[in-house]
Amino acid sequence: MIIDTHMHIFDDRYQGIIDEVVAEAKANNVGLMIAVGYDYESSLKAIELAHKYDCIYASVGLHPSEVVKEKDKSLEWLESLLHENKVIAIGEIGLDYYWDQSFKELQKELFAKQIGLAKANNLPIIVHNREATQDCFTILKQNLVPGVMHCYSSSVEMAHEFTKLGYYLGIGGVVTFKNSKEIKKVVKDIDIQYLLSETDSPYLAPMPYRGKMNRPAYTKYVVEEIAKIKETDLAMVEEALASNAQSLFKF
Ligand code: NI
Repeated sequence: MIIDTHMHIFDDRYQGIIDEVVAEAKANNVGLMIAVGYDYESSLKAIELAHKYDCIYASVGLHPSEVVKEKDKSLEWLESLLHENKVIAIGEIGLDYYWDQSFKELQKELFAKQIGLAKANNLPIIVHNREATQDCFTILKQNLVPGVMHCYSSSVEMAHEFTKLGYYLGIGGVVTFKNSKEIKKVVKDIDIQYLLSETDSPYLAPMPYRGKMNRPAYTKYVVEEIAKIKETDLAMVEEALASNAQSLFKF
């Protein structure tokens, strides 16, 4: 079985086709998926999907690009959602210096606070990092909880540093792009026990659908590419990646 450890099919773009998208995923052997929230509203939608579909679990959290919504820093809504059935992680949380640098300190503070919540509730975290690798690493090192660097896109050297801390690396559609040399090297170099498959649907569709709307069924192209890079049997790669996800998220 293949697991899509990161998707957002509660997005408006899937309105009216969610049943079809879930059925298509199952037909392509993608038997489990994690719907990942990024603020209060989307976290509620992720939980709603998890309650509706057997094969979907939910992650709840406040994305770094959404921290302005939480100026009082209380995150009370997040704590209240952690006890909902099928909530298995906190995320996506992290740092994003690409879109906005003006809330760096607030991002760091709320990232650390959500890591604390994960620790207190014995949940893994799903980490978003964009152009903030060093700060991300520092904060994670100071507050160790199990987790995944979602859509990993940093260097091979940092991949070794994150996995030394026990972090998994989420591998998505970008690995199938011809020009993605560094991420292909990460997949080649890093032991498969640290890799997870994901799509980040609706974003970053793999080849041959690059530029189109992504769908959880397309996780299979990511898994195929990982097997190709590792020059390993596809069935073995599938099983290893699924077992990694199971170890981290305990479905
Ligand atoms: Ni995402």
